[in-house]
Amino acid sequence: MTLWHGRLSGGTDDLVMEFSVSLPFDQRLAVDDLAGSRAHVRGLGRGGLLSADEVTGLLVALDTVEGELADGTFVFSAGDEDIHTAVERRVTELAGAVGARLHTGRSRNDQIATDLRLYAKRELRAVASAVLGLQRVLLERAEAAGRVYLPGYTHLQRAQPVLLSHHLLAHGWSLARDVDRLLASVERMDVSPLGAGALAGSSLPLDPDGTAADLGFAARFENSLDAVSDRDFVAEGLFDLALLGVHLSRLGEELVLWTTEEFGFAVLDDAFATGSSMLPQKKNPDVAELARGKAGRLIGNLTGLLATLKGLPLAYNRDLQEDKEPLFDSVDQIRRALAALTGVMATTRFVAENMEEAANGPSVAAVDLAEWLVERGMPFRQAHAVVGGLVGDSLARQVPLEELVAAHPDLGEEATPLLAPGVAVTRRTTPGGAGPGPVADQMERFSARLDADQTRVST
Ligand code: ARG
Repeated sequence: MTLWHGRLSGGTDDLVMEFSVSLPFDQRLAVDDLAGSRAHVRGLGRGGLLSADEVTGLLVALDTVEGELADGTFVFSAGDEDIHTAVERRVTELAGAVGARLHTGRSRNDQIATDLRLYAKRELRAVASAVLGLQRVLLERAEAAGRVYLPGYTHLQRAQPVLLSHHLLAHGWSLARDVDRLLASVERMDVSPLGAGALAGSSLPLDPDGTAADLGFAARFENSLDAVSDRDFVAEGLFDLALLGVHLSRLGEELVLWTTEEFGFAVLDDAFATGSSMLPQKKNPDVAELARGKAGRLIGNLTGLLATLKGLPLAYNRDLQEDKEPLFDSVDQIRRALAALTGVMATTRFVAENMEEAANGPSVAAVDLAEWLVERGMPFRQAHAVVGGLVGDSLARQVPLEELVAAHPDLGEEATPLLAPGVAVTRRTTPGGAGPGPVADQMERFSARLDADQTRVST
């Protein structure tokens, strides 16, 4: 029997059911659906729409359903179109006639909006917590990296040496903004739609404020049409996950580069690498590549939902059912990517010798020579030209840069120590810069930020 058998005669064609059924994926909202129903039942009790006994009867039945779902004994029936239908059917079987009162003043429209907000709040927080796990590992690796340095790149060309710790923390800070974004989205979506009904509220004495508080929402909806039709909280969550995915992708891309023979900056732990089915010598960075690849899918989930939403008139339209699979998928994918990448980052061996050798070429200190001239009064543009000329000369004539520097009237022997291995990186002394002084300070700030974010995520 359908939920609308009073209005429509005969059964629904099987093809309609097959096309529109959402149970296979919205099952995972069961705990949230049950929470919503409990709050609704208690609200009906407060409004005098259910007697105390009826409230108890329904709550006991909801608990039984929860137990059956948890231990796998819940039997879905062919007519269960979605999780809401399945739970209501079973509650009615268990509680008897009072089951028919469960849906009083409620629609599946406010019900699903409530379920999905509860789910999204919890899962986005869990993602933020997993991001913090990765950030912790980045911090530990940064702390352990000491004075190790490598070339910093622009245009993927060696530019200036930077401390490895500085490089690792650069990823850490972008992840800090992801945590921020996730928590801000959670805060914005912390509004209960329950009590909006199908679209316009109700003539019955419902208690949207009470049910909102009961469910742990910070507030109830202000406008019933908005409450049932809005999915910007899903789009925002998907954006946060997509951008987080983009950040993981960039980290993945660097791991791919660093573990090539060409770079040789890092060696993956065997447990976090994969082999080739044909080429016996291969050790592949599949986790890093998949982290990079998943970003495309996460972006797709966001753009897909935005396309679904863009033409929808108020209020509920069935198109909105398409909001769940992309959200579930993005949450699942990002959680797996975070876990795997955290493992990779914790176990990868950095090859300091190769990093430093790559950063010891004299030309990465070119700007230090120019700044040395600036300190002695030369305008920067002129200093830039002098040093650029020397670097060009050195390459063209195959003469070591040191010799040309030593022989130059404005530079001379006094300037050559700047070219010695490991010197340039120590000269990055400005706040937020890549040298040991500012990085030590940065590390402290990053660690404090992680502690503060840990508190925000768990409260
Ligand atoms: N499965 C539906 C969804 O996800 C639940 C709401 C159904 N509402 C309706 N009026 N058909 O959106």
